[in-house]
Amino acid sequence: MAKPRSVFVCLDCGQGSPQWGGRCNACGEWNTLVEEVESAGAPTTTIAASTRPRPQSISAVDSARFVAVPTGLPEIDRVLGGGFVAGSVSLLGGEPGIGKSTLLLQIAGAYAARGQRVLYVSAEESLHQLQARAARTKVLHDNMWAVAEGDASVIAQYIDEMSPAFVVVDSIQAVADPQLSSTAGSVAQVRHCAHRLSAVAKARDVPLVLVGHVTKDGTLAGPRVLEHLVDTVLSFEGDRHHALRVLRAVKHRFGGTNELGVFEMQQHGLIPVPDPSRLFLADRAADIAGSVLVPIVDGHRPFLVEVQALVAQSNSGRRSAQGVDAGRLGFLLAVLRERAGVQLAERDVYALAVGGVDASEPGADLAICLAVASAASGVALPGTLAAYGEVGLGGELRRASHHEQRVGECLRLGIEGIVVPKHAPALPRSIKSIRVATVREALERVGVSGI
Ligand code: TYD
Ligand code: MG
Repeated sequence: MAKPRSVFVCLDCGQGSPQWGGRCNACGEWNTLVEEVESAGAPTTTIAASTRPRPQSISAVDSARFVAVPTGLPEIDRVLGGGFVAGSVSLLGGEPGIGKSTLLLQIAGAYAARGQRVLYVSAEESLHQLQARAARTKVLHDNMWAVAEGDASVIAQYIDEMSPAFVVVDSIQAVADPQLSSTAGSVAQVRHCAHRLSAVAKARDVPLVLVGHVTKDGTLAGPRVLEHLVDTVLSFEGDRHHALRVLRAVKHRFGGTNELGVFEMQQHGLIPVPDPSRLFLADRAADIAGSVLVPIVDGHRPFLVEVQALVAQSNSGRRSAQGVDAGRLGFLLAVLRERAGVQLAERDVYALAVGGVDASEPGADLAICLAVASAASGVALPGTLAAYGEVGLGGELRRASHHEQRVGECLRLGIEGIVVPKHAPALPRSIKSIRVATVREALERVGVSGI
């Protein structure tokens, strides 16, 4: 076996270097280099030499090998462009407790129910915990095999021997190779173990998913250092206080990264939400000042969501944003004050996107401005009115991307009128368009100016 050697790895970008330095040469971050022990040379695997790939003519490559195998769960297959590809390695990142294990157990369960033998490796939880979750989410199946194991060599051996149709390793941060002296979860271990498991998955043509916990600011070393190593990076996101969860592909070697899968975390696991807009709008109360509908776009997918604002008397001038970017809210309030005469200096302003939605894209600017002005004036907007458009520093409205998708979603959900930037493309006749050049004009047209 090759002798382990020391490397200094940047916790931020994962770049390795032979010497320590105060600053990473690759990304320029300070104090991010840590010493790790890394085994020199290629990782050792248990794969027999006969199963190693040999060079061949590119035209003779069996393209059928890269066919995606559907999970049978449409919200997942949509994100993956059909399903997991044999021999591919995916990383599923997300905050602890967001539902990664639940999601993968349900995916494994779907494969198992379709007659394929799958392997769920739990390096964090006991088999009893796993079984309880499988029972709760109703995916207990004889084809689902499981093992509680954290030793990378042993896991590699199981994958090699069993050659299952789908493998989950939950989580990569809890897997370690005893050959390395560093602890589980360190950069060296995470990289080494991911390498090792990928090699066996590729040799056996098994789709492998590694779970990686990510902290809120995305700085946890482990998963980020793997992003270049894997074929697909999936991110599972959501607000822990809400049931809504979004699965997106951040990187995908076998397809696009613009599709989203939307789920709700319920009593018996994750339930797909094929029509999120209707879910977001289900509890909407009519005629409340400060409420505005906005068609936002995430990836290729449009959602009609509600943004709300509340303006309260106080001397503190507090600002609070949820599902709306706090910096952007400050910017929009400054534009409202300077360009549209809306004075909020001694008042508290709360702004949120309902239902745990992330409405931080610029297309939501106009709706946030209208919501704040509506709240400040106490005048409610019609319930069948929506608005979108990006706001500039001059108070001017700029066109936002995906006009057709936004308008299409409004039409589908019975919206009768939309406030849009003056130069937005044509709208269908069946919807009333209110074209405005500035925020001030928008406020005047919907009757929430003059505060
Ligand atoms: P989990 O999949 O363990 O999250 P992760 O692997 O990302 O850490 O799920 C965590 C939460 O989901 C847990 O707090 C309980 C909740 N949950 C449900 O609400 N319903 C369910 O059916 C399951 C299995 C979990
Ligand atoms: Mg988990």
